[in-house]
Amino acid sequence: MTQGLFITFEGADGCGKTTQLKLLAEYLQKNGVDVLVTREPGAKGLGEKLRDILLNYDGVVSDRCEAFLFLADRAQHIDTIVAPAVDAGKVVLCDRHIDSTAAYQGYGRGQDIVQINNLNMIATGGRKPDLTIVFDIDAETSLARVGSAKDRMESSGIEFFNRVRDGYLKIAALEPNRIKVLDATKSIDEVQQDVIELINTKLCALKS
Ligand code: TYD
Repeated sequence: MTQGLFITFEGADGCGKTTQLKLLAEYLQKNGVDVLVTREPGAKGLGEKLRDILLNYDGVVSDRCEAFLFLADRAQHIDTIVAPAVDAGKVVLCDRHIDSTAAYQGYGRGQDIVQINNLNMIATGGRKPDLTIVFDIDAETSLARVGSAKDRMESSGIEFFNRVRDGYLKIAALEPNRIKVLDATKSIDEVQQDVIELINTKLCALKS
């Protein structure tokens, strides 16, 4: 593989995307693909400090401040990790990216979605994922999977997670070529097969 690829995994907390990302990384590596696994918020260095604030700070965080902290992490992540790896020909698998901010801070917290989209563009310098997989799950199942040990974001309540889920579906409907939605309530093996099918379709499309 000489052409880099940027693939993002999205969905509400507890949707199983992190498990699927690891399984896909193993599958691709077995097939000789040069893979980089990363995440937002907090891939490393400064990002880890921002992640700690975003998930664990127990004082008041205003909605706009929260959005800017995620965006700051994103700018650093794209500039120092994602863009260099994709440009070097790697397949970058990223756990959450721009669509998390649209779904959580936009639809979830009620921040203006057009502004969030513009800020995402600024944070990424306009680079968009080649493929985004949304692992769709209802809010009840999502929160039940998270369990009782919830971080700051996960403590936002069921109404919030209903809006996040609806947000993801709206975002996906607007960009059907980039964003594919999978049913994340299926078994791990079934979802993995669905993921592999999407990736192989994408790789074939790039070759042709
Ligand atoms: P994390 O522990 O990484 O959760 P998950 O395993 O579900 O990805 O926590 C990240 C949290 O931050 C998660 O609740 C989603 C939220 N988030 C946003 O609200 N906006 C964003 O832009 C990003 C990247 C994450």
